[in-house]
Amino acid sequence: MADDQIKKAATLIRESKYTSAFTGAGISVESGIPPFRGEEGLWSKYDPKTLEIDFFYRNPKESWKVIMEIFYEFFGKATPNRAHEVLAELEKRGLLKSVITQNIDNLHQEAGSRVVYEFHGNSKKLVCTFCNAVYSVGELSMDVLPVRCPKCNMLVKPDFIFFGEAIPQDAYNHALEAARNSQVMLVIGTTAEVMPAGQIPIMAKSNGATIIEVNREPSNLTGHITDIFLQGKASVVMDELLKNIIKT
Ligand code: APR
Repeated sequence: MADDQIKKAATLIRESKYTSAFTGAGISVESGIPPFRGEEGLWSKYDPKTLEIDFFYRNPKESWKVIMEIFYEFFGKATPNRAHEVLAELEKRGLLKSVITQNIDNLHQEAGSRVVYEFHGNSKKLVCTFCNAVYSVGELSMDVLPVRCPKCNMLVKPDFIFFGEAIPQDAYNHALEAARNSQVMLVIGTTAEVMPAGQIPIMAKSNGATIIEVNREPSNLTGHITDIFLQGKASVVMDELLKNIIKT
């Protein structure tokens, strides 16, 4: 990661009147949560079809088995890393308006970020698919799968978006607002492969935002959407970025 690039990124963020962050699984890898794609990716171990909404309704037990292994065995013990903390610090300093995340691990909130829009929902809540009763994870036992509602005995599902489900309207609206108004958008740890989420940085760019990308390796955005590519691990790059923002 070139020194002048990080200095340029720091100046842009300090001078920007409206900066937002768009994050993906890569920002949580150093918290111990594997990404979805790439050689260590979850989709090389699990078939993503088990998280398609109609598969879930047709094969709830099989789908719940994958859900539990991926999201409740992996995610359960994860804690925020330096990259999450730096975004919370930037918000505190009035240098970051919002975080739009594709992640469902709640780590931005646990790091102290207050304005977080979850494009794919959140894994910390469970919702009954019939009576809409809401439970926090831990309230319902996962010893017997699929998890059923104690009130009506119908299927319970995690409150995150399965493939084939609509994006939560409030998160979508706020993401579009950031894509319209951002002068700078920090894009951290995403392949930008999955739509419509992957459109957000592209829309921001077309509305005049400067795209600062932080990724271990080039993504679908690098080279044509990204203006400044800070290659490296998110926690290292974000720590370096904050140091440059503060010292100048
Ligand atoms: N630091 C920075 N970037 C990293 C790191 C790291 N330590 N480790 C991995 N990455 C990058 C990878 O290079 C890759 O570009 O994070 C990205 C992870 O990509 P994906 O696994 O595709 O995650 P994401 O882009 O968030 O996927 C979007 O796909 O399966 C769905 O709903 C799921 O929200 C997810 C969506």
